[in-house]
Amino acid sequence: MTGKTFNVVLVGYGHVGKAFYHLLREKRDFLAARYGLRPEPRAVFRSSGGAVPGFLPPGKDLGLEPGQRVNFPEVLTWHPELRLKTVLEDIEPGVLIECTPSNIRTGEPGLTHIRRALDSGWHVVTANKGPLVVDFKGLKDRAAQSGLALMFSCAAAAALPTLDVGMHSLAGAEILSLEGILNGTTNHILTRMNQGASYAEALREAQARGIAEPDPSLDVEGWDTAAKLLLITAAVMGTNLALKDIKVEGITNVSPEVLDEAGGQGRSLKLLGRVRREGGEFKAEVSVTALDRSHPLFGVDGTDKGISYSTDTMGTVTITGGNSDPRAAAAALLKDIINIFR
Ligand code: HSE
Repeated sequence: MTGKTFNVVLVGYGHVGKAFYHLLREKRDFLAARYGLRPEPRAVFRSSGGAVPGFLPPGKDLGLEPGQRVNFPEVLTWHPELRLKTVLEDIEPGVLIECTPSNIRTGEPGLTHIRRALDSGWHVVTANKGPLVVDFKGLKDRAAQSGLALMFSCAAAAALPTLDVGMHSLAGAEILSLEGILNGTTNHILTRMNQGASYAEALREAQARGIAEPDPSLDVEGWDTAAKLLLITAAVMGTNLALKDIKVEGITNVSPEVLDEAGGQGRSLKLLGRVRREGGEFKAEVSVTALDRSHPLFGVDGTDKGISYSTDTMGTVTITGGNSDPRAAAAALLKDIINIFR
């Protein structure tokens, strides 16, 4: 067997966790052929226990030899007694994928998982925003001190490569300000309300696509955008903002009349996250903003997202698009894994 083989432990088996597990299986041959990488899923955890994939669970008869390797997620058998700590300490460190729900107030349970993984020598790739919102600097320092990667593209607008562009493509340029449509759920709701759908109907559609947060008030009240704004600016502008430093407004007060009025003026209402330097300080806010046609994010509709960086040497650089769905979020996790080993 050629290439690099490494262990993967997945924590959190909701929409994104499941999509990641499927994607790893789907891309197995491609990853080996294109990158020489062979990720081995060794354990999957959810709140009701852990599963060890890859081997036929005892007592199952699927027409396979006992112990024969299988890679079908449907044979995951959950053992309440399996502990993350034990797995992390017992097997060769690889990459921990953290996909438990984001709690942006406490960071838990992801914060504990990430600290434990880093302390046990595991790289971490997280979809979960909470731990980094609560302790960005602490976690980054912890990883750096051990020479480990802590990657979070998935938590920073997933398929939209906000961090890749901000950290690598714009290296050496000073980012003076940034503006982003960073939440697919609210952008979908605003777009659909513009087309005549009701708020409730549009929210249900976003939930059916698996993009709304388990608690959708985080989306519609602007907190998911604020969390992403915090993470992106920490990474690309070196800010050290807390959530309380960000003025946050959501879309819950946007009525069809307000949307019509903006439309009548040739403008489009967006939930925009913004950070700019003012003197020596950074001002950050999330607010419903009427964009006119000349704005680079004017045409970003539906579940699309976008970010526009304004720099001192490279001018304004805008990226838009990228799917907003669990598979695209899983793909952002996979991208980070590949980039750790490149
Ligand atoms: N709920 C988020 C969104 C997806 O609608 O964009 C996860 O960040």
